[in-house]
Amino acid sequence: MPTFKLDGKEITAEPGTSILQAALDSGIEIPHYCYHEALTVVGSCRLCLVELNNSPKLVPSCAQNVQDGIEVRTHSDTVKQARESMLEFFLINHPLDCPICDKAGECELQDYTFKYGSSHSRMVEEKRVRPTKDLGGNILLYRNRCVMCTRCVRFYEDIVGESYLTVEDRGYRSDISIFPGKGLTHKMTGNIVEICPVGCLIDKDFLFNARVWNLETTKSVCPGCSAGCSINLQHKDNKIYRIRSRQNTQVNQQWICDDGRYLYHRYEKLERIGFPKKRGGEKLNNTSWAEALSIISDRLALVKRSRESEKVAVVGSAFATNEENYLLYKIFHDEIGCDKFFVYNREAEGEDEVIKSGFTVYSDKSPNYYGAKLILGERTDFWSEIKNGNIEVLYFLNGDIDIKVTDQQKELLKKLDFLFVQCVAMNDLVRLANVALPTAYFAEQSGSYVNAKGHVQKFQSALKPPSETKEGWQILADLYKTFNGGVSFVSVGDVVNDMAQNVSAFKDISFFKLGDEGLRIR
Ligand code: SF4
Ligand code: SF4
Ligand code: FES
Repeated sequence: MPTFKLDGKEITAEPGTSILQAALDSGIEIPHYCYHEALTVVGSCRLCLVELNNSPKLVPSCAQNVQDGIEVRTHSDTVKQARESMLEFFLINHPLDCPICDKAGECELQDYTFKYGSSHSRMVEEKRVRPTKDLGGNILLYRNRCVMCTRCVRFYEDIVGESYLTVEDRGYRSDISIFPGKGLTHKMTGNIVEICPVGCLIDKDFLFNARVWNLETTKSVCPGCSAGCSINLQHKDNKIYRIRSRQNTQVNQQWICDDGRYLYHRYEKLERIGFPKKRGGEKLNNTSWAEALSIISDRLALVKRSRESEKVAVVGSAFATNEENYLLYKIFHDEIGCDKFFVYNREAEGEDEVIKSGFTVYSDKSPNYYGAKLILGERTDFWSEIKNGNIEVLYFLNGDIDIKVTDQQKELLKKLDFLFVQCVAMNDLVRLANVALPTAYFAEQSGSYVNAKGHVQKFQSALKPPSETKEGWQILADLYKTFNGGVSFVSVGDVVNDMAQNVSAFKDISFFKLGDEGLRIR
């Protein structure tokens, strides 16, 4: 492996690594715009120039690979002067509108100018002013802020495999343009806002909504399909302001699709259940958690006493966490003696969509079908069991906010003696329940999912659920307590530890060991 000197420090890097990447890997910042680790190298912005002992001129460090014995200087006076001049060029026509720019606080033009630029401008000429372009979909192009790095153009060519954007004209007149007849409606489009190093590409969904330094970030997992992309939830005052991708080479590279990016709006519009509910004749009335849980535990205790556990069934969910599905199994199998476990999943939607980089948007829109099956088994057809009169008491755990219950299925549910439902929002299941328990959705709870490739990832709660709504694992831990002499699980990590001892697929897993990127379990 080539060994070379970087600012006097000896560094070893893989052959074929650029000087820029080797520097970044060893914690030395070289400012850059056109270089992006996932895209082809074009060496066009000239901001990454460094001094090399065997070259009479400065070289672009993104386009020069490491070689044995070379000496690189990234902070010499010549380099500093070149950087300062390049930044002066980038700012010639820039409107310096950071106070109203959404990128402020995470902008590489702002940061580099502060660190490496000049404190004043020699520019006395009028600036060129170009109107903002709407590129279609959610994307606005603030043309005066562009540094012409072409990351956005290359994203479509290298990652998506289709051309949407191009550079029109040359030199001073260069402009980012969309191919005629196209709008930026491709499912992967939101990523260009993330990789644009400056405030040129702006997402209308976030426009003027918040200053980024006021947002908190919580690591999470997208529940939009069985890819389970790693995401960051960015939130403030118990509200999500945006979802950003989180790098995970084993899962989503560093991208997310727009279905997942804007998914949080779906949850904002839900009619939440509000309070635990119990049936009184035709009506559902609000009740306390203690009463709701005691109705369920009394009914289940009666089943146990009268040795009628074969009448009880449990429907776990591909939309619920491993911890929720596991606790269901623990209560109903270990405490009640039930052996009828099913997994609810929605019909897949169309075909999987695979782009050039291999990133896939799955047609299975559940985040945890694989995890739920590992815990509860492969049975899914609980409707025929109800139809055949084999189920009288049903506990239905449902995390799918788009569940559709047909009229025929409603009639089947009415045949049950007892229907207990744990649900995120009001729907037909809740309306037919004897007891309904309001549960949190993914951003309001902690837990883990297993994606379509068998990769298990954890996520943490970012928001507080509404006051009488609880995290799903907590509801089930409270129910478990009623059978276990008041003793139960105190954290989601506790549940994972127990699951690791009792479900072979999760052997040796702990919430801590899952780390930020998760683990492959098959
Ligand atoms: S719009 Fe952004 S990503 Fe595209 S060329 Fe301009 S600065 Fe680069
Ligand atoms: S591919 Fe699936 S998991 Fe990934 S961001 Fe899109 S909807 Fe979410
Ligand atoms: S990052 Fe090297 S030339 Fe642009």
